[in-house]
Amino acid sequence: MENKRATYEDLKDDLLLTKDQIAARVKEMGRQITEDFKDKDLTVICILKGAVVFFVDLVREIDLPMTMDFMAISSYGSATKSSGVVRILKDLDKPVNGKDVLIVEDIVDSGMTLSFLRENLLSRGAASLHICTLLDKPERRRVPLHVDYFGFTIPDEFVVGYGLDYAEKYRNLPDIGVLKPEIYEK
Ligand code: IMP
Ligand code: MG
Repeated sequence: MENKRATYEDLKDDLLLTKDQIAARVKEMGRQITEDFKDKDLTVICILKGAVVFFVDLVREIDLPMTMDFMAISSYGSATKSSGVVRILKDLDKPVNGKDVLIVEDIVDSGMTLSFLRENLLSRGAASLHICTLLDKPERRRVPLHVDYFGFTIPDEFVVGYGLDYAEKYRNLPDIGVLKPEIYEK
């Protein structure tokens, strides 16, 4: 295998999702979104920072006029678990009232971050609101959340790469892998 990158040493040997698997799925998701949002006033919102790599790939697979906006949030909690208390670090630049909003997120875990965002954006008068996530860990859900588009369902393990981090590292890995537990247990 050509796992040349030094940072891959911190991952379990078998990658969870390779960049080719991800690219194929992102293409399919883009095609579906293109179909579903014809004739809508689409604005696609990237949730920084985790979703940024997925976002830049996904928007190029959506063949529709759209606007983009970015929101940075942080959820308080331990390094590998979110608490559900969400803080907006950077808000949207433009109002979303009347817009058909598609939120793009990296992963849904407890569901608390996205249920906060859903309520927050609906209260600003979005015409419609849909959620798109690359990864979903349904076993860990603590609040009910309807996800409209998801790339892959994954088991309850801490993953990094393709935008996902542990302590801000590993976001630049092209593939997604499971972090060796000794990395976050030490
Ligand atoms: P939720 O509010 O519990 O659904 O948390 C979602 C957020 O937790 C995501 O946006 C990620 O930032 C982070 N997260 C959850 N699971 C993982 C993981 O396996 N790897 C990296 N980040 C994760
Ligand atoms: Mg995140």
